[in-house]
Order: sequence, then C-alpha cells, then structure tokens
Amino acid sequence: MRLILLGPPGAGKGTQCKRIIDKYHIAHLSSGDILRAERAAGSDLGKKAQGYMDSGALVPDNLIIDMMVKAMTGASQGYVLDGFPRTTVQAEGLDKALAKAGEKINAIVNLIVDDALILPRMTGRRSCPKCGAVYHILTLKPKVEGKCDKGCGDLVQRADDTPEVVGNRLKTYHQQTAAVVGYYKSKGAVILDIDAAQEIDQVTKAVFQKLDNLNK
Ligand code: AP5
Repeated sequence: MRLILLGPPGAGKGTQCKRIIDKYHIAHLSSGDILRAERAAGSDLGKKAQGYMDSGALVPDNLIIDMMVKAMTGASQGYVLDGFPRTTVQAEGLDKALAKAGEKINAIVNLIVDDALILPRMTGRRSCPKCGAVYHILTLKPKVEGKCDKGCGDLVQRADDTPEVVGNRLKTYHQQTAAVVGYYKSKGAVILDIDAAQEIDQVTKAVFQKLDNLNK
C-alpha cells in the first residue's frame, strides 16, 4: 500500500503515521524527520534546509523531491508519505517519479483540523529524537515525564514549535500546501477526508476504517 498523509502542521500526521505503519507494515517516510536527521548529521542538505525550517518556510522543491524519491526507492513494502508533497510542484515531481517506477498512490488521507486547535498541540508536543515517537505534555503523556516510552532517552521540544514559528508554518500551509488537496482532486485521486479535531484514538479509528474499506 502506498499512501500520502496531508494536513496542516499539528494535524496529527506523525502521530497517525506511527499507528498506520504498525497496522499495515509499511514504511513511514516523513520529509520533516528526514530533514531533521540530515541536520543532526551536519550534511550539506541539512545545512541548506536549516534556515528555512527554523523560520517556518518551505525548503526548496528540488531538494525535497530528490530526497523523497530516494527514500521511496528503498521502501519496496509500501509507504506512507508524511509532509510530502507540500506544493503542487512537489506533487508533479512525485507523479513523475511514480510513473517512471510504474507505481501509484492508493489513497490520500486528508486530516482536517481548524487552525484554532493547532497552537496548543504544537507548544505541548515533545518528541523522541531517536525513534520519532510523539507525545504531548497534557494529552499524550509518556509513562515517565520527559522520557521516551521505548527506552530511547530524553524527549525534546522542537525548535520550530514556538508560537511565532507555528504562526509562520500555518501561513505557509495556507499559502502553499492547502492547494495540494485540490491538485489531487483534479486528478481524480482517492481522497479520504478525516475529521482530525477528534481525540487521537477516534482519528485513528476513522483512518483505519477508511483504509480497510479500500481493500474490500
Ligand atoms: P514537518 O516535520 O513535516 O512538520 P509539520 O508538517 O509542520 O507537521 P508536524 O510534524 O509539526 O505536525 P504533525 O501533523 O505531524 O503533528 P503530530 O502528530 O506531531 O516539517 C517541519 C519543517 O520541515 C517545515 O516547516 C519545512 O521547513 C520543512 N519541510 C518538511 N517537509 C517539507 C516539504 N515537503 N517541502 C518543503 N519543506 C519541508 O502532533 C502534534 C501534537 O499534537 C503532538 O503533541 C500530538 O500528541 C498532538 N496531537 C496529535 N493529534 C491530536 C489530536 N487528534 N488531538 C489532540 N492532540 C493531538
């Protein structure tokens, strides 16, 4: 199965992806996680991406398309794309790569949530830099405060989760990314709209129901 998960920052893409990969045994290809790993490794790509990410702007399309196509190539068991594509240029780049590989996306999971819910989700988020697990200080607490449940060590707060940068990321989403849903609609893709304002488990239930129905 090959999926795309769309939604604004803080919609719960990473949270739901972890559950999707556990159930369907596919790879989680998160453009944000890959960029953060590149930054941590001090690679050229990581250095180029840094300024964009810290301000809440998008990293240039050509860098992202190359990075994600490379990641997809290694995922023969299928994948869920998280955070990519984020512009119509990236969506076109993805289409080209899929056509070249003779593959197609089975469905697009579109997480819908109002901007007003986003800020408290982001400022309370804590993530594991090693395994990528995502927590929240109020709504999804780890078993031991500040520590990953999987024994990886300390949780961190992302540098781009400050109110100012979250505001920029939301602006970027509305200006550049929201149009990606329209792009896929115009292509007649299977789009699964999900109310992502519900509690995390309810969102998961709705996602699983729709994905299970795909295979019937
Ligand atoms: P990226 O890492 O992709 O960030 P994002 O899209 O802004 O999304 P987030 O990871 O912040 O949120 P999420 O939807 O995964 O929410 P989560 O599940 O963690 O990108 C970061 C930066 O990298 C970008 O700004 C850009 O610079 C660059 N970049 C990445 N991809 C790019 C691309 N394709 N092109 C160009 N640049 C790119 O949940 C958030 C919190 O909410 C958690 O604490 C969670 O517990 C909580 N939560 C989740 N669901 C619920 C719920 N239903 N109810 C209550 N709380 C919830």
